[in-house]
Amino acid sequence: MKNNVSRCSNVLFFVFLFCFFTVNIVLGADKTPVYKNPENSLEERVEDLLGRMTLEEKIGQMNQYSAPFTEECEVLTEKGRVGSFLNITGREKNRIQKIAVENTRLGIPLIFGLDVIHGYATVFPIPLGMASSWDPDLVKKAVSIAAREAASDGVDWTFAPMVDIARDARWGRIAEGAGEDPYLGSVIAKAQVEGFQGGDLSDPNTILACAKHFVGYGGAVGGRDYNTVDVSERTLREVYLPPFRAAVVDAHAGTIMSAFNEINGIPATANPFTIQKILREEWSFNGFVLSDWNSIGELIRHGIAKDPAEAAYKAFKSGVDMDMSGNYRDDSITGTPDNIYQRNLDKLVKEKLVSEKEIDEAVKRILKIKFKLGLFERPYLDTTRARINIKSIENIKVAREIARESIILLKNDNKLLPLSKATKSIAIIGPLANSRRDPLGSWSAHGDSSDVVTILEGIRNKVSSKTKVYYSKGCNILGTSTENIDEAVTVAKKCDVAIVVVGEARNMSGEAASRAYLDLPGVQENLIKAIYETGVPVVEVLMNGRPLSISWSAENIPAIVETWFLGIQTGNAIADVLFGDYNPSGKLPVTFPRTIGQVPIYYNYKNTGRPYNPDNRFSSKYIDVPNTPLFPFGHGLSYTDFEYSNLKIDKKKIRNTEEVNISLNIKNTGDYEGIEIVQLYMNDVVSSVTTPVKELKGFKSVSLKPGEEKTVSLIVKASQLGIYDYNMQYVVEPGKFDIMIGKSSENIQLIDSIEVVDN
Ligand code: BGC
Repeated sequence: MKNNVSRCSNVLFFVFLFCFFTVNIVLGADKTPVYKNPENSLEERVEDLLGRMTLEEKIGQMNQYSAPFTEECEVLTEKGRVGSFLNITGREKNRIQKIAVENTRLGIPLIFGLDVIHGYATVFPIPLGMASSWDPDLVKKAVSIAAREAASDGVDWTFAPMVDIARDARWGRIAEGAGEDPYLGSVIAKAQVEGFQGGDLSDPNTILACAKHFVGYGGAVGGRDYNTVDVSERTLREVYLPPFRAAVVDAHAGTIMSAFNEINGIPATANPFTIQKILREEWSFNGFVLSDWNSIGELIRHGIAKDPAEAAYKAFKSGVDMDMSGNYRDDSITGTPDNIYQRNLDKLVKEKLVSEKEIDEAVKRILKIKFKLGLFERPYLDTTRARINIKSIENIKVAREIARESIILLKNDNKLLPLSKATKSIAIIGPLANSRRDPLGSWSAHGDSSDVVTILEGIRNKVSSKTKVYYSKGCNILGTSTENIDEAVTVAKKCDVAIVVVGEARNMSGEAASRAYLDLPGVQENLIKAIYETGVPVVEVLMNGRPLSISWSAENIPAIVETWFLGIQTGNAIADVLFGDYNPSGKLPVTFPRTIGQVPIYYNYKNTGRPYNPDNRFSSKYIDVPNTPLFPFGHGLSYTDFEYSNLKIDKKKIRNTEEVNISLNIKNTGDYEGIEIVQLYMNDVVSSVTTPVKELKGFKSVSLKPGEEKTVSLIVKASQLGIYDYNMQYVVEPGKFDIMIGKSSENIQLIDSIEVVDN
């Protein structure tokens, strides 16, 4: 009996083993899961992974937390309830990633994001500066260096480029974008996204881009950051959307950040019109949308949600996939609760206000990007890479190159510049002349001020050993004390030339740095005036993050150079320009107002029914200041002169499916080799809706030796000449289009026209 029992139990045991293995083989439990095998297609991996996830884990992917990595973050990470972190790099990234990859049920890697706005450790000029180069290839190169450096320190994803058009210099974030023009803004946006993402997101030297802030953020009323935006759909489509379109449609940016502001009554973070209709439907965007920092929580303060649940509901339904929200329970800045997706989406599913299928769609978008980045195969940072890639000689060389190209010669009377390296004595004056921190600009978290070459150092390195260089700070950037101005005057008096470096501190532009005055802060204008009074020739070097209204200087100081914040190679780049080793070629990407009262001021304004006529009171004008800017969009001088001639157009009539080739000759008639940026503007003379007096449609940079002449060709497609008609449809209407070619938006050299005819 006993034997029978044991025989029977043996048989049962073998039957059990057989069944166990068969079931496992059939279910594939002994194999690598489909989602972990890179041989499988993206779709298969995503579907497989999604199928294994609980609702809690799915919602987890939709949350991004910031450093510091608190105990609470650790607990959430272990439970698979976090999808991403920001502001965590290096070894710390690996430590946290290990928790996600090894200690969670499914091992889904986290994605680590950071603001890499104008360089990583090799700090480049602020974006407004880089845009002043009008050199998309060089911008792309600089940005790809930033990407490589950041990636070498564990960054997978950047919250850049900022592609917000800004027509209001009061708005501090004008520093972070490419200026006022939708065309230039689109070209630079595309270059930046391509620079960050390269051709392949899984390449360890590239990072994922996030075009921000979608949308209209630059239109803040009164230039006050975070303020209400009230723009028509027409202005949205004509002015604010094109750079986003370029980022998404032309350059395939993987993510988009929804903005803080409202647009015509609907906050951008709960805006189905901009996110669902325009971004996803019209542009077929298939990446994911991230909120700005707690912008979901702020929907309560905007007054469109009664509580966090409703805020989560509205943001989610409008298409925001991930909540960027720091890790404060009670946000003392805005007084709004955060981590709203974390704490509310599951309730919304249980209450059937949101379906799990909808959650799946959002999570799929996030997972797809994680797979595309290769995070499942390569979740960790190889810490040895940083040494090779960060601040390499080549990177620093590019930093100097782009810094030089970002400099704009605003004024140069009597060819005061370039200065001779053998000048006997030079006074270097001003609160920014020897600043080491300010040249880093507003967003340079990983920049090190000890890498900065100050202007004083750059000039000292440049001039002959016999040149005497004297320095005096003169005054502070802010404040009312004039007590050191006399000392600066004494220094200037003993010199052949005075270089006065004035402007803004680095924290006076960027986020939350709107200004109500656009003149030089503090007593800096007093300083300039005092140096000017000495009779010593003065070169004014501006370091700032926005256009400034420097009317007195523009009238009195013979040479003015705009340098923005140029990054670590500031001093070398500026010395290269001041002493003629580099002939300046930068052009303004924004208009400089004469006075703050003209703001918003931009070159692509509309004619009105009563166009500006200084002699006619009843024209659209001010009674106390001309309409014209202090320095127009596209302005920038050179040490040489360029002559434009021989405008030719290959077809005077084109169909709306065709393109036109516009060519001209350009000759260097001066003594220096130089680069000119030829600008092509057009005007739709009569159309069914009003259009700007001129709009940039193309540009080309040409390098010419003295006496050299070249032919430049610019192609314009008829499809670039469309308008949004009465029904907001983009159409190319037949009719006459004026062509204006020039050195700036105001300095037009050649004019002609073409006609678009019906097909
Ligand atoms: C800014 C974003 C930035 C984010 C994360 C926000 O305050 O508006 O531009 O990407 O912080 O640092």
